[in-house]
Amino acid sequence: MLADKNIVLGVTGGISVYKMCTVVRLLKKAGAHVRVVMTQSATEFVTPLTFSTLSEEEVIVSLWPKDKHSSTDLGVKHIDLGLWAHAMLVAPATANTIAHLAHGYAEDIISSTVLALRCPLIVAPAMDVDMWENDATQQNVSILKGRGIFIIPPESGELASGLVGAGRLPEPDTIVDYVDDVLEKTPCDLSGKKILVTAGPTHEPIDPVRFIGNRSSGKMGFALATAASLRGADVTLISGPVSLGTPKNVKRIDVETAEQMHNAVLDHFEKTDILIMAAAVADYTPVEVAEHKIKKLGSHAHGISVELRSTSDILHIVAEKKSKQIVVGFALETTNELEHAKQKLEKKNLDMIVLNSTNDKGAAFGTETNVVTIIQKDGTATKLPKKPKFDVAMEILNYLLKLK
Ligand code: CTP
Repeated sequence: MLADKNIVLGVTGGISVYKMCTVVRLLKKAGAHVRVVMTQSATEFVTPLTFSTLSEEEVIVSLWPKDKHSSTDLGVKHIDLGLWAHAMLVAPATANTIAHLAHGYAEDIISSTVLALRCPLIVAPAMDVDMWENDATQQNVSILKGRGIFIIPPESGELASGLVGAGRLPEPDTIVDYVDDVLEKTPCDLSGKKILVTAGPTHEPIDPVRFIGNRSSGKMGFALATAASLRGADVTLISGPVSLGTPKNVKRIDVETAEQMHNAVLDHFEKTDILIMAAAVADYTPVEVAEHKIKKLGSHAHGISVELRSTSDILHIVAEKKSKQIVVGFALETTNELEHAKQKLEKKNLDMIVLNSTNDKGAAFGTETNVVTIIQKDGTATKLPKKPKFDVAMEILNYLLKLK
């Protein structure tokens, strides 16, 4: 996969910078074009000249032109690199750089290039075990993963400090294999396609402070949006209330209720090539929403009733309108799973349905993994093994591409 690919390598300041010299050599040997960008602190470990010699390219350390009196070289290198790259690798990535990337800083050539990037980003953290295990670092890594950034897990072993634990940068071969894998996983086979994804639950208000909702975390829908975007699609994500960051290059529309989600889907459906309804839309909503908080009626009260009415079945309604569109639904089932999912596929006029069973281990609400069965129009059902939600999303897209 690496032959003729443009790889930007961001090197930050850690003891393992020396391993990156071999990484550059291996990437070049595999036929990739490599441009190295470094933080100032990385240059304390290995000089830019070494990387320049190995990559046969100028190494960029500063955002600013060397000649302060000339504008010909003025600070757009990060934009150019962002457009040029097929993949960017930040390795070793220090805790400081990871924090900057998680929070969108643009104060050096690496963080600025990352913000301007249009291709997959791979980050290889390397630091001391306590820094790696620190909650702040772990939260920052989770933010990056949520955006669809690939993390090469650090290895365990003896660290530069003499401590033993996780935090070592993997060996060059492992890093290069990982980059190759990411390029293979993210072909631009959806470029030019407009994909609409719905995700998360809907909240149906009872009064100004209470609602009826469900346990959907939105992770599967967000993984689909991330995966489709990485494969070149123009992705719009309609999300119910979730606490997830927006995947890179994805247009996000936040909604709360089933009705709002319905309107948002209708607004976009006509211009869409593929609709994937991963949202757990409420089937019922209160007939009336109290204007003020409903007060407790005293200790002898026997409770209250909330009258509910059906919401519109968004998927059913839009699938009836479909012309060129491919429409994919999800089915969450607890019993007679296959039979129920197949009925939904037929009744809602879908091209494909993705079945989730609450009986499968590793497929619970909010988990990082999922177990799904993909059911096609002709009734063929394929159960995939338990995988991270991002990998499940990639498989769903592979099936989807076969539908054309
Ligand atoms: N769906 C929808 N609008 C609704 C309810 C569901 O568009 N009001 C979509 C979901 O996004 C999903 C599919 O329909 O893609 C199936 O949802 P699911 O909750 O599994 O089934 P329901 O159709 O709601 O039927 P039931 O709750 O009886 O299983």
